[in-house]
Amino acid sequence: MNFQQSYDQAMTHPHSFWANAAEDIDWGRTWDKVLDETNAPFYQWFTGGELNTCYNALDRHIENGRANQTALIYDSPVTASKQSFTYLELRDRVAVLAGALRKMGVNKGDRVVIYMPMIPETAMAMLACARIGAIHSVVFGGFAADQLAIRIDDAKPKVILSASCGIEVAREIPYKDLLDAAIDQATYKPSHCLIYQRPQVKSQMTADRDIDWEQACAEAQATDCVMMASSDPLYILYTSGTTGNPKGVVRDNGGHAVAMLWSMRNVYNVQPGDIFWAASDVGWVVGHSYIVYAPLLNGSTTILYEGKPVGTPDPGAFWRVIEEHKVNVLFTAPTAFRAIKKEDPHGNYLKQYDLSHFRTLFLAGERCDPDTLKWAEDLLNVPVIDHWWQTETGWAIAANCLGIEQLPIKPGSPAKAVPGFDVQVLDDMGGKVAEGNIGNIVIKLPMAPGCLTTLWNNEQGFIEAYLKRYDGYYLTGDAGYIDDDDYLWIMSRIDDVINVAGHRLSTGAFEEVLSSHPDVAECAVIGVADKLKGELPLGLAVLKSDVTRNHSEIIPELIALVRKKIGPVAAFKQAVIIQRLPKTRSGKILRGTMRSIADNTSYKMPATIDDPVILDEIKLALKTLGYAGTS
Ligand code: COA
Ligand code: AMP
Repeated sequence: MNFQQSYDQAMTHPHSFWANAAEDIDWGRTWDKVLDETNAPFYQWFTGGELNTCYNALDRHIENGRANQTALIYDSPVTASKQSFTYLELRDRVAVLAGALRKMGVNKGDRVVIYMPMIPETAMAMLACARIGAIHSVVFGGFAADQLAIRIDDAKPKVILSASCGIEVAREIPYKDLLDAAIDQATYKPSHCLIYQRPQVKSQMTADRDIDWEQACAEAQATDCVMMASSDPLYILYTSGTTGNPKGVVRDNGGHAVAMLWSMRNVYNVQPGDIFWAASDVGWVVGHSYIVYAPLLNGSTTILYEGKPVGTPDPGAFWRVIEEHKVNVLFTAPTAFRAIKKEDPHGNYLKQYDLSHFRTLFLAGERCDPDTLKWAEDLLNVPVIDHWWQTETGWAIAANCLGIEQLPIKPGSPAKAVPGFDVQVLDDMGGKVAEGNIGNIVIKLPMAPGCLTTLWNNEQGFIEAYLKRYDGYYLTGDAGYIDDDDYLWIMSRIDDVINVAGHRLSTGAFEEVLSSHPDVAECAVIGVADKLKGELPLGLAVLKSDVTRNHSEIIPELIALVRKKIGPVAAFKQAVIIQRLPKTRSGKILRGTMRSIADNTSYKMPATIDDPVILDEIKLALKTLGYAGTS
């Protein structure tokens, strides 16, 4: 079947298409219905079906002859250590950890927050939850205690799993201290915390609450998999929306397992036994899907890398890992390649390594600029595949599906909609725009299996954020167009979300923090173009009229406040104080216009602006930070 036939098959016969894909998963009970539309727009996949995701990711491979195949390789240049686990070893470690969780009172349906660095125990924690039917919610380590507290209050975990520290290049991040601060702040309190003591930092344990990981595992019994309904939640993953309140994306067990496995073979062309490396973090959706679940469901070997593309120790780090572990396919964000290109523009480091096993590079997480794509292609001499997806979908909405048929590559486009996704571009009135014209990118319901089923504790929010704008369609939040070859072009977000080094952040959340500073009357945060990270946040603050303090005192306070409230991952390092914000006569802040000024791109003077002179003032202020052109 070629790509078009496969796509058409998924659209015209979704039931048989996905039933066929589901045959590759082991079910305890076969589904009654492939797609249950009775409660639309809340669709359910494989209703009546029962399975266990951990069983499918580990146990069944042991039963099918892969017991001694490497399942997971941990490679950590920041601690100068490496470790490999066969499927048997990983399963045994996971089963015992699951037993420890059980002993702590964790049962099917309970939530477990995982706030951990990139160590094998983090993947084990996710799989142990899946094994006993607990719903995990991994929180990225680069978030501050405040953000962790918000997520604890929303997910209400019975238990939190954490480690004594994370390591950012040479800096130790005291995860346990951040966790303690978050629990202090949160209204909800977990019964216990299971703490993995890393050799680099020994944490103080809180009596009656904290339990030592290794000791708990030494005393626990291995526990078997629990059968889950296909529609039971596997995990919650919080992502940024327009406000400071993150959205808890809920993923099911059945649809997710089917989509993960299908994507591994059909999008990435990765077979059981192949070595797959997603250079991301388990705290992001890429890490959930392609460090942990998909490669293991597929019987492949996954790499968990605790390091950076540069500086650990040099820009040859990725090539070293590829050679050493015979990686076949790498998936990362374009920003990682921009970082390598910046430090080693001629690819000199690559010459030291043998990449003969390497087949393909996949990029996603942000727009892939054609220069970076071309640079990577020339350097590596393998296909470089841009693909587009988001936390909500959990896997690619648009891609060049190498496992089906390699389509011509158009740099700047993530190629075509993946089978199962009916992607359309609509105008503000809900009409389809003509080919080549920009509009709101939507997906006609129902979406392929594996996509979010709802938002945690917030069905109404799910409808408001994604389904209300256009009846019968899911709003992706991205704007773009489809060309006459059916290729998609993703141009920008339509909301207040910005993308910093492949990390999705909300300018609304930044603004809430800046507004809480006692000297700030009002503010705006915009995403400005950055050669390395794609976008960077930039704050513009108007002070209260009675503030007489020096700006040079206030600006560092604003920067520190965002770091404290959101975290280092916000990369918020630039702010200016201005007299007034440009607004329309109805009071809407002209963020888009300010962004164009900062990026020095053309913009139309908004007809409804209350006072055009303000834009000149903004231009002057932004020039002090090196933006808004040089003339
Ligand atoms: N725990 C604690 N702090 C973290 C962290 C974690 N897990 N991850 C990042 N941080 C910190 C960093 O140390 C940095 O702090 P600093 O301001 O004190 O320097 C800050 O958060 C920003 O981190 P990052 O965005 O990673 O920037 P960087 O300058 O350290 O590295 C890149 C830049 C391009 C090398 C890096 O962003 C990268 O490797 N990106 C790969 C893409 C990726 O993983 N995308 C995820 C989705 S696919
Ligand atoms: P996240 O949910 O953090 O994965 O972020 C998803 C968002 O990142 C998407 O909605 C897009 O705005 C952006 N994005 C991801 N992949 C791509 C891509 N290949 N091209 C353009 N934008 C992308």
